[in-house]
Amino acid sequence: MRIDIITVLPSLFSPVLEASVIGRALASGVLEIVVHDLRDWASDKHRTTDDYPFGGGPGMVMKPEPVLQAVQDVLGKSSTEATVVVLSPQGRRLDQELVRELAARPRLVMICGRYEGFDERILSCADVEVSVGDYVLTGGELPALVLVDAVSRLQPGVLGHEESAADESFSDGLLEYPQYTRPSSYAGMDVPEVLTSGDHARIAAWRRRESVRRTAERRPDLIEHADLTEEERAFAGRVIDGDE
Ligand SMILES: C[S@@+](CC[C@H](N)C(=O)[O-])C[C@H]1O[C@@H](n2cnc3c(N)ncnc32)[C@H](O)[C@@H]1O
Repeated sequence: MRIDIITVLPSLFSPVLEASVIGRALASGVLEIVVHDLRDWASDKHRTTDDYPFGGGPGMVMKPEPVLQAVQDVLGKSSTEATVVVLSPQGRRLDQELVRELAARPRLVMICGRYEGFDERILSCADVEVSVGDYVLTGGELPALVLVDAVSRLQPGVLGHEESAADESFSDGLLEYPQYTRPSSYAGMDVPEVLTSGDHARIAAWRRRESVRRTAERRPDLIEHADLTEEERAFAGRVIDGDE
């Protein structure tokens, strides 16, 4: 997968992109990420990318010409079909379903806003606007990194164990079951006996039940659309009602 990021703060990216799993994916070539400095498309000597809002009001607005020219030039550099993502608190809220959709695309171009946001005409280039949540950040760089991380770890070969993405929270509409590691007993807190039993069928059944329980307790809103058996749905209902 190739990802292009257009930003006025390119230096924010390298510490995160060079570290850990993404760093290894970049080094191995599974992932290619190019960060572009939007100011390279500014036309004045001050490299201006923002201007006052028409109609007045506080703050500055991102100018359309540098962004739209940058997108056109970045898209023109490759024939791979690209999906243009604008990071915006007004966009579709990011969840694992949207992450999966975007992770399946061969190429993403992400546009990071700053100041009071985008001149509305910039949105004409967007295939999708993505929000990382119902709160406002100072810029689109952290949201872009969130999205880069989430889509990267779904690329084949990026995670050490292919199962680790398949098993975790939201992969099947449920939160993941509780996890434990050594020691089996610490400060009076013991690991559930089943996990040290070596009985794989019992362990799988326990994990599934605890996954349903945890989701019903913490995110009952997910239960309605989760893929559950009749018995599991009844169990979730009892958990939600406080009977389990
Ligand atoms: C201060 S925000 C602008 C908010 C805008 N005035 C509004 O009310 O919708 C500046 C930039 O940060 C980014 N941003 C802020 N919060 C975000 C969020 N929750 N999700 C994605 N991007 C966000 C966007 O790129 C946005 O253009």
